[in-house]
Formats: sequence, structure tokens, C-alpha cells
Amino acid sequence: MAGIPHDHYEPKTGAEKWVNSRLGIIGLIYDTMMIPTPKNLNWMWIWGIILAFCLGLQIVTGIILVMHYTPHVDLAFASIEHIMRNVNGGHFLRYLHMNGASLFFLAVYLHIFRGLYYGSYKAPREITWIIGMLIYLLMMGTAFMGYVLPWGQMSFWGATVITGLFGAIPVIGEPIQTWLLGGPAVDNATLNRFFSLHYLLPFIIAGLTIVHIWAFHTTGNNNPTGVDVRRENKEVAKKDTLPFWPYFVIKDFFALALILVVFFAVTAWMPNYLGHPDNYIEANPLVTPAHIVPEWYFLPFYAILRAFTADVWIVMFADWITFGIVDAKFFGVIAMFGAIIVLALVPWLDTSRVRSGRFRPMFRWWFAIFVVNFVVLTWVGAMPAEGIYPYIALAGATYWFAYFLVILPLLGIIEKPEELPETIEADFNAHYGKSKDDAAATPAE
Ligand code: HEM
Repeated sequence: MAGIPHDHYEPKTGAEKWVNSRLGIIGLIYDTMMIPTPKNLNWMWIWGIILAFCLGLQIVTGIILVMHYTPHVDLAFASIEHIMRNVNGGHFLRYLHMNGASLFFLAVYLHIFRGLYYGSYKAPREITWIIGMLIYLLMMGTAFMGYVLPWGQMSFWGATVITGLFGAIPVIGEPIQTWLLGGPAVDNATLNRFFSLHYLLPFIIAGLTIVHIWAFHTTGNNNPTGVDVRRENKEVAKKDTLPFWPYFVIKDFFALALILVVFFAVTAWMPNYLGHPDNYIEANPLVTPAHIVPEWYFLPFYAILRAFTADVWIVMFADWITFGIVDAKFFGVIAMFGAIIVLALVPWLDTSRVRSGRFRPMFRWWFAIFVVNFVVLTWVGAMPAEGIYPYIALAGATYWFAYFLVILPLLGIIEKPEELPETIEADFNAHYGKSKDDAAATPAE
């Protein structure tokens, strides 16, 4: 982290000196692992490592699955059955990959909500945030295409519905849809290109993850107080931080171990809990399932997509003013992508000069409603689009946009934040008390 004193790598042995004078890789690894990290990070800072683990797990299990999978409409479903029944440990490998995707999304949502509460997206971490959003978009694309590969009923109809959304775009929509599918409908060409991209994208995510980590290593981590490490005062900066190794590595791996206990229990004993039974029926273009439901992690955005029906006034208004170009379907598509765009733009929409929600008395309430609203959107996204459900979805979608476009910009102006601690160290001591070593080292405070 620029400006904060910490032990830089000094080669000791002859071999280290030899390597280091030719390739600075040991120094790079050392400086990355010893990076000064705010010592007050709480348990919400574990999700980054969990995410890195998930990415590794998906790549390793995916590569082994591919050794037994066949991307052809006549063979894909059977090859998955073959993996489940004949390949040694195949069913466990597949269940790890299936449930690994769910853990990946659970972790990414908690990681994002951590960032939203503690204002980690605020200056100077905007690039970390934007790279994160790119990763999130690629994760969604990868998961969507992966779900098509088993070629079950949900695979086929999910792909039909989602690629059909592009058809809602006036004029250029249909050519785009045909181009994406490789033909007029979801078929072998679609399965092949989705397979190819599903294999490729995780490696692009891995590359972006390196840039993501590079970005927050440039600015330094945020922390629960949102107060900056005092870089200008080297002594204070040193007290505010601890090296990443061993302190945070041990903490993160302890958390990973606990999470893996739950993850393996789910994978072993209830592996299909989060899946849909219809995906164990082979794809049939002639039979539409009663309800087409995406995987749980897409549900909030699926709810927003379906919230704007033709009888909502804003949809009617958009339809009228654009001479019918923006109909209900197109409006839903704009709303769904818009929901992600406002999330990406939050560093510029939130006007508060205080980062952490801990010191923002009004923000805390609106944020709590935002979290509840997210859960409600997830639930309503799984419900049929009839009766009261579209109204609940509409209320949830409205709050989503209001939160980013009205509440956050206004709160920064009207809210009076609570007093911030002087330093991270001061806040740390207020919570955990001063250690004997620290007290002895700083007698005159
Ligand atoms: C493959 C996916 C991702 C990986 C492996 C990853 C990894 C990490 C790691 C290791 C950290 C350090 C602190 C921590 O552990 O929380 C971090 C910080 C951060 N991440 Fe991610 N991340 C991913 C996706 C995302 C996404 C989708 C966003 C949101 C748009 C995001 C936003 C942030 C922000 C703002 C920080 C800075 C927090 C701080 O300074 O303390 N990340 N990420």
C-alpha cells in the first residue's frame, strides 16, 4: 500500500538473490502477502477469499466434468447421466460444481452488501468497485450458460426466455437474438457456443480478479469505520494496520473451514435442494414447463424484469411517448439492466462524505429496508406472475431505483453523520481495549 511503511522484501540466501535479481517474483509475492491491512476488519471482510476459493473450485471441478461431458443436443443430457452414474465420484463432482455456483453467488451478494454498507465503493475505490461489477456480470453470464449445458427442460426453456429478451429490443433485437443463438431457436449451435463461452469466461473472471485485488492493494482496504489509515503519520499508520500474513490469512481460512462444513453438508445430503426437478427431464422443445424459474441468484432481477406489466402507468406513458416502441416487455428489459447499472454507478450516486454506515444514523434504516427488499424480490421472483405478486415485485423494483437515484443522493445532503473516530487504532482500542504491549509502547497518550 503506497505510503505505509512495511517490511519490503530483502533477499537473504544466495539462491533468493540470484532469482530476485533476474525476476522479482518472490518480492512481489512477499509484498502482496505482507500488505498492511487495517487491523479492525470484521467478519464481513472474509467473503473475498471465499469468492477466490469458489472460483478455483468451479474451475477445477469444471475441467474434470468436461472430460466426460458431450456438448451435443442428442448426447448432452445422457452424458450428464453418465457422469452421475458411471464416472468414479462423478455425482459428487457434479454436485460440487452445481452447489459451488450457489456458494459463489451467496458470497458475492454478501461481499457486495458489505461494500454497500461500509461505503467501500467510495473514493478512492471506484475502480475496485467497477471491476467487481464486471466480474459480477461475467459471473451471471457464465452461470446462465452453464445451466443450459445439462440440456434439461429448465436449461432449454430458461435459455429460450432469456435470449428472447433481446428480441424485445426494437429493430435490432431479433437479429441480435438469432446471432446469439446461432439460428432461429435454441438448438445445437446454441449449446455449442454456450459451452465454449462457459469454459472461457471463468478465466477472464480470474484475470479481472487479479486486477480487482491490484486495485484495492493500490488504495488499501476500507474498514468498518471507513476512516482512512493515516498514511501521513508513519507511526500511527503502523498501529492502524497488521500484515495480511499471518493474521488475516488465518482468520480467512478459519472462516472458510466453517463455511465448507455447511457447504459439504448441503452438497452431500441435499444436493438438489436449490435446483429445479424439471431439469432432470430431457429438453423437449414441444413441451413448455408450467413455470419457468431461473436459479435463485437471478430471482431479484427476474422479479424486476416482470414487475413492469402493461397496466403500470409509467409503462403506459413510455409506450405512448415512444409511439409503441417501448412496450411492457422492452420496459422490463430496460428496468432489469437499469437495476444493475444503478448499482454500478453507486460511487457517484451516494453523495455522503462519510463512508461507513456505522456513523450514518438515517442511512442505516434505508439500508436495512434495501436488504429486506432484496430478499422480498428474490422470493417474489420465484412466484407466478399473477394475483398480488406483480404488485409486490413492482413495489420492490420501485424501492430499488428509489434507493440509488433518490435516497442515497438526498441522504448525503440532509443527514448529520455521527462523530468519526480519530484513527482506526482509537476505534479498535475503544472496542477491544488496549493490549499490554501497546500500552507499554505508547505511554504518553
Ligand atoms: C470473483 C469475484 C470476486 C473476488 C474473488 C473478490 C475478491 C476480493 C477480495 C479478496 C477483497 C479484499 C477484502 C475482502 O476480502 O472482502 C475484495 C475487496 C473488494 N471487493 Fe471484491 N471480489 C470479487 C467480486 C466483487 C464484486 C462483484 C464486487 C462489487 C461490485 C466487489 C467489490 C469489492 C470492493 C469495493 C472491495 C474493497 C473492500 C475493501 O477495500 O475493503 N468485489 N474483493
